[in-house]
Amino acid sequence: MQIQTQVQLKPFNTLSLDAVASHYCKVQSTDDLIHALDFAKQQQLNILILSGGSNMLLPEKIHALVLHMDIQGIELLDSDDQMQRLRVGGGQVWHDFVLWTTQQGFYGLQNLALIPGLVGASPVQNIGAYGVEVGEFIESVEVYDRETQRFDSINAQDCDFAYRHSIFKDQPGRYIITHVVFHLLKQPDLKLNYGDLKAAVGEEQTPENLERQVIRIRQSKLPDPKEYPNVGSFFKNPIVDQADFDQIAEKFPNLPHYSQPNHQVKMAAGWLIDQSGWKGKQLGPVGMFHKQALVLVNYANASLKDVRATYQAVQADVYAKFNVALEPEPVLFGEDGLIRSHQD
Ligand code: EPU
Repeated sequence: MQIQTQVQLKPFNTLSLDAVASHYCKVQSTDDLIHALDFAKQQQLNILILSGGSNMLLPEKIHALVLHMDIQGIELLDSDDQMQRLRVGGGQVWHDFVLWTTQQGFYGLQNLALIPGLVGASPVQNIGAYGVEVGEFIESVEVYDRETQRFDSINAQDCDFAYRHSIFKDQPGRYIITHVVFHLLKQPDLKLNYGDLKAAVGEEQTPENLERQVIRIRQSKLPDPKEYPNVGSFFKNPIVDQADFDQIAEKFPNLPHYSQPNHQVKMAAGWLIDQSGWKGKQLGPVGMFHKQALVLVNYANASLKDVRATYQAVQADVYAKFNVALEPEPVLFGEDGLIRSHQD
């Protein structure tokens, strides 16, 4: 394993921000990880974990050791008539892994096709789309725990999976994910309840067709980061108490929303942004995508400062119109390589 200095991270973050790391290495095994952590300790460097780079906002200079997670491999664990268990290296590309599971006849992840990023990042924000969240198919997450300084395995029940949330978000920096253990279905059980997915799938109700339709729908609205650098949904869909929602809905009865447990309601952030006039609108080099207002795009070599100016302007306009605070989804890093608050 080789530690490099002054490495440009632009090709490794899907928003294509210029970001030079003082120190960088690829981590292809748990041994590499231990060596890298030792190096960081000796040099008194903070650590920044880089996975697929599809959910992060980076400053132009980072004084830290960037660990680029690249542990490969898919291991078939035991199976029975109903279930196949798989242990997957965190560096596997998520979408390729989903396609592979479908080809092998292992089902459950088809609704999550074409989500950018790597397997190791999938539990962090509990990636979800079209009525499925990855946490439903995770048995355990293998980590290096920087607090206890041991490798460990965390059962899904202890991961606190919720909408775009897990313990890995609660305790940033504590766990480094090396592998994920999945349990997938041997018999298809298609989840077609989200929006017009059922209509899109039509008569041919097979996992293969479901996967094809999810890919088609995503491609029709979500920009390809290679063409329009982006990090997917830029804001979470806000969740508020029913009473607060009723007040907003009185003024805006068309607001798309979904009932949640505990008398809460999830509102469509894309609609709020759209109605605030931001769909297809730019502020300098950064704007909200013309086909899906929830996606922020770097149109022309923007810096983190430009990105922040745009998303803060969107937040302000949505707040002024709807009295709703939008929370950004991607993780913001400081020049010291540590996660920082979007409010600072
Ligand atoms: N809408 C608008 N204008 C827009 C965008 C959306 O009016 O510009 C409306 C839509 O018409 C619809 C509602 O908002 O009624 C919701 O839109 P959509 O079904 O496209 O889903 P979303 O809430 O915008 C969420 C996830 C996506 C995921 C889709 C499908 C979040 C933050 N985003 O988007 O996840 O693919 O549902 O399940 O939960 C991601 O996280 O990067 C991501 C793409």
